Amino acid sequence: MAEKVTVQPKSGLRGEIWPPGDKSISHRSVMISAIAEGMTEIENFLPGQDCIATIRAFENMGVTVEGAGTKSVRVHGVGLDGLKEPGDVLDMGNSGTSMRLISGILAGQPFYSVMTGDGSLRSRPMNRIAEPLRLMGARVYGRKGDLAPLTIVGGGLKPIHYRTPVASAQIKSCILLAGLFADGETVVTEPAESRDHTERMLGSFGADVVSRDLSRRVKGRPRLAGHSVIVPGDISSASYFLVAAILCRDSEVVLRSVGLNPTRAGLLEALEAMGGQVSLENHREESGEPVADLHVRSSQLKGRDFRGDLIVRMLDEIPLLAVAATQAAGETTIRDAAELRVKETDRIAATVSELRRLGAQIEELDDGMIIAGGGGLKGGECTSHGDHRMAMSLAVAGLISETGTTVHDVACVNTSFPGFWDVLSSLYT
Ligand code: S3P
Repeated sequence: MAEKVTVQPKSGLRGEIWPPGDKSISHRSVMISAIAEGMTEIENFLPGQDCIATIRAFENMGVTVEGAGTKSVRVHGVGLDGLKEPGDVLDMGNSGTSMRLISGILAGQPFYSVMTGDGSLRSRPMNRIAEPLRLMGARVYGRKGDLAPLTIVGGGLKPIHYRTPVASAQIKSCILLAGLFADGETVVTEPAESRDHTERMLGSFGADVVSRDLSRRVKGRPRLAGHSVIVPGDISSASYFLVAAILCRDSEVVLRSVGLNPTRAGLLEALEAMGGQVSLENHREESGEPVADLHVRSSQLKGRDFRGDLIVRMLDEIPLLAVAATQAAGETTIRDAAELRVKETDRIAATVSELRRLGAQIEELDDGMIIAGGGGLKGGECTSHGDHRMAMSLAVAGLISETGTTVHDVACVNTSFPGFWDVLSSLYT
């Protein structure tokens, strides 16, 4: 994969796309099936680097996985007590989901394990999961306190009732997964509802998980049974084409089999509020997740203010929303998004600096940004800061730039969307 890609201005995007399998659900399908009994067949698995890191971690703990690196994966579950002490450090690469969720499972294991990752992951906050896991009785050690490499010596967990300071599916899921290994009921309560894929999937494997308001309860020591899982298309990956079709003149694009879990579909709500024309067809359910086809047409957007719980439902799409906002009539304000500062990169700083380099008028706020609309994105050189979502958002900016845009440091796209550039150019007419 080239380290930089130049995207030329385009109009008339046309085509039909099957976005790759959902990253969050792919991770969970491997983690939960590894500690279930029997075999789980996973279809439309995302063979991106992040999810492969999850597979490798379980292989290193004695789980047999067939088809790693492909879209059809079979996991031979070893049951709640079947994982083996890994013989080496587990490398989670760039994947925060792998490190934070697997920490919950490792906390339940009576053995020693060490997890590391790339420079970005080693700088991301892990105290948010280390603290509740310590309250449950696990020994968790990190560099400078709570940074990876993280060492966990687990086992003998007790259930807790925990209030998370931030709405984060990674924290919630870590605690719920650890709760599987505790005797009794573990409860986690969030300030706003984060994505609920863990709850849905644990339930489908036979765990007793109850959701009420912002609390989730799980009973320890369930019998998890392997079964087949179909992973819906990733709405986060689909979003780049959705926004591209809205912004490029004379475009019409169909996105097939996109997961529309309401805890993930905030971008659709936001685009609708801005005047984006997206229609949903063929609603159905796959493996306990809502799925539909999206038909998208070029639309003129209006600037809007976004804040509050909606931000949690579209957190990964905010750099892309900022790109869309540059083309809207009027100003767009995004607030309550401070969590973006601790993603793969500081996505508030990166979005502001890179869109400004391309000619946007954009102001940085502590917890968001203000974007002037009106079009006029010149284009030029920019960088992803090694962050896949930044790289793909800037590619969309290239499509609507006046002179074309070169995005540097794009190999990171493979963490969540191998084949992104080919899919993008398949829409050119
Ligand atoms: C994810 C949760 C979110 C999201 C990340 C994937 C998950 O992170 O940004 O891309 O799969 O649970 P936080 O839980 O840190 O908000």
